[in-house]
Amino acid sequence: MSETVPVVTIDGPGGTGKGTVAARVAGHLGWHLLDSGAIYRVLAHAAVQAGVDSDDVEGLLEIAARMHLRFTTDGAEASAVELDGADVTKAIRSEACGDLASRVAAHPAVREALLQRQRDFRQSPGLVADGRDMGTVVFADASVKIFLTASVEERARRRYKQLMRQGVGANLSDLLEEITARDRRDASRSVAPLAPAADAVELDTTELSVDEVTEAVMSQVCRRLNIDGPGGSTR
Ligand code: DC
Repeated sequence: MSETVPVVTIDGPGGTGKGTVAARVAGHLGWHLLDSGAIYRVLAHAAVQAGVDSDDVEGLLEIAARMHLRFTTDGAEASAVELDGADVTKAIRSEACGDLASRVAAHPAVREALLQRQRDFRQSPGLVADGRDMGTVVFADASVKIFLTASVEERARRRYKQLMRQGVGANLSDLLEEITARDRRDASRSVAPLAPAADAVELDTTELSVDEVTEAVMSQVCRRLNIDGPGGSTR
């Protein structure tokens, strides 16, 4: 049944603005939103709290099976995330948590354990899903697939500004190094590596504002789903 619910996937490395763009596109369409990276981040956070190492697959699977996750979107750009009733929205946004999430996400068994949780977000009237493997694995039958890229320097700058806004301390050259290392890990893992789906539309966002990227994605979505864009007909 859920297979008939349309999905727009927005994949790409960190710092391409995909989270913000996905939230805005979901807002325009009035669709549900899945921030799949947040699921890996919450698992990484829960593992730290439980004293489970990011290489302890059995321990990670145990946590993945019992963790209770709740996302609340207020229609704005960021969703609040709860883990077992505790607000972890801010805690999971640190670079340390992102790095651990990338390590945790490299285990095929962990990805498999989180697959259904992600697919459960496919609810009427539609879903916008952002991540690394939304278009290649989780929603391989999506109606529209977007793959965002940007230079590593620009992504580090964006991440830096974002962390500053969130009141999380950061250092630009450390970020550049961390992002490069994380890209390498995400792109070279054996299962669901970061890569565009064969039928994805690739968009380099280095020189574009969030508004411009959102507009470009919306015009693809409207054209492919045969609907009118917010500014009138885009066909
Ligand atoms: O998008 P993000 O920075 O919140 O993601 C954190 C990490 O989670 C990322 O480095 C790799 C992993 N991830 C993944 O493997 N697959 C996804 N669909 C989303 C995130």
